[in-house]
Amino acid sequence: MFKKTVSFIVSGRGSNFQTVAEKIKSGYIKANLGIVISDKAEARALTIAGDFGMDSYFINPRDFPGREAHESEMIRLLEKYKTDLVVAAGYMRILTAFFIRKYRNRIINIHPALLPSFPGVHSQQQALDYGVKITGCTTHFIDEGTDTGPIIIQSPISVMDDDGIESLSSRILKEEHRILPESVKLFCEGRLRINGRKVYIDK
Ligand code: GRF
Repeated sequence: MFKKTVSFIVSGRGSNFQTVAEKIKSGYIKANLGIVISDKAEARALTIAGDFGMDSYFINPRDFPGREAHESEMIRLLEKYKTDLVVAAGYMRILTAFFIRKYRNRIINIHPALLPSFPGVHSQQQALDYGVKITGCTTHFIDEGTDTGPIIIQSPISVMDDDGIESLSSRILKEEHRILPESVKLFCEGRLRINGRKVYIDK
């Protein structure tokens, strides 16, 4: 079977990238590792990429006159490595319509809340502040809105009375590390079918 190439855009720690890359390396996800692109020079994800023998690039948004110019450089590299799927694994910038059009239905994001609740940043804190009893995480395709794209997998987590930001975030993160690789695997197996807002998983 034709193997898809999976590349990653990141801004920080890179634990989600690492879990997916491990599962590709082990053969659990049948795909090729592409590249890692960071908008932050100090992103730990860049070091992890080196451990996997992957090429990685820090592309500084400040070196470009605007967002599309920055993204054009990202696209140039993603295309150079024949990327089929872009995984936004803790990428903290909003992608423009220009980038999204280029990779329509081929960018998967991991979000630390049950969308459409708590989009944007600090979702775990938003959940604590709101007082919800259940939160969780979501994988979805990126569209032009902020965390509004078609949902692939969601996983619920109970919020405990004594939860703080760290305990809750770490329980959510554990689930992120489960549903993101599963979503990438399904994509690479050609089993995700998008119809409007709905993503169907073929058996
Ligand atoms: C995760 O909580 C992810 O859901 C959010 O940013 C965080 C990234 O963590 N989008 P890591 O860089 O994957 O460790």
